[in-house]
Amino acid sequence: MRKNIVAGNWKMNKTYQDAQALVSEIDNMVRDEVTHENVEVIVTPPFPFLNSISKLIQGNSRMHLAAQDVSAHESGAYTGEVSAAMLKSVGVEYVLVGHSERRQYHHEDADLLLKKMKAALAQGIKPIFCCGEPLEVREAEDHFKYVAQQLRETVAHLSNEEFDQVVIAYEPIWAIGTGKTASSAQAQEMHASIREELSSIFDAQAAYNKTILYGGSANPGNAKELFSQPDVDGGLIGGASLKSRDFTDIIKSF
Ligand code: PGA
Repeated sequence: MRKNIVAGNWKMNKTYQDAQALVSEIDNMVRDEVTHENVEVIVTPPFPFLNSISKLIQGNSRMHLAAQDVSAHESGAYTGEVSAAMLKSVGVEYVLVGHSERRQYHHEDADLLLKKMKAALAQGIKPIFCCGEPLEVREAEDHFKYVAQQLRETVAHLSNEEFDQVVIAYEPIWAIGTGKTASSAQAQEMHASIREELSSIFDAQAAYNKTILYGGSANPGNAKELFSQPDVDGGLIGGASLKSRDFTDIIKSF
């Protein structure tokens, strides 16, 4: 059975104190309210809070920790970078790779994203690989081809064993932080197309088993409809993951 995941991407938000409070609330609400067995909850705080949050969620088997970025390098003279081994040493299990904000503001290209995934995988950290088209590509109706190409130039270069560890997140850029969600039909048709593409790169079973998340203005009001689609296996949640009530309600939408 395919794993369902709801991951909260906190981006550059919260102080240490706010982050502790938020994760404690989520931890409690998940314990008390989430009954669905097959759902993993991931929180993705900024680097300085990973260690303490790792300890906070340790006793809750549903809660998992992700980092927002990882260096492509193993170690050494790379000022400001954080290695996969460092993340591993504080209990990080997942890492975001290829988020559109990193691609756009930090000019991360396919070559670098592949290196980052490899660096994470070498430490046993699972990449959450983000893909998705900008508005002009959607308007030109080139979105299926565009996203397929993003997969071809990155995950296609992983081995079968490496690919097994990857989670895919489809995040149309025009829906991120805009309040404009993809309709459930738009999400479904893209997720099905991604699965089809993965099936031709790897094989049908690997593609069938792959968890594919939707991201982009998901909220408690639209999550149920999105998650009810056969190829939507959960969400990567930005804004709504900063409020424990909203985030938990999204988790409960399965
Ligand atoms: P959003 O962000 O939910 O605020 O649109 C999603 C994301 O960037 O992962």
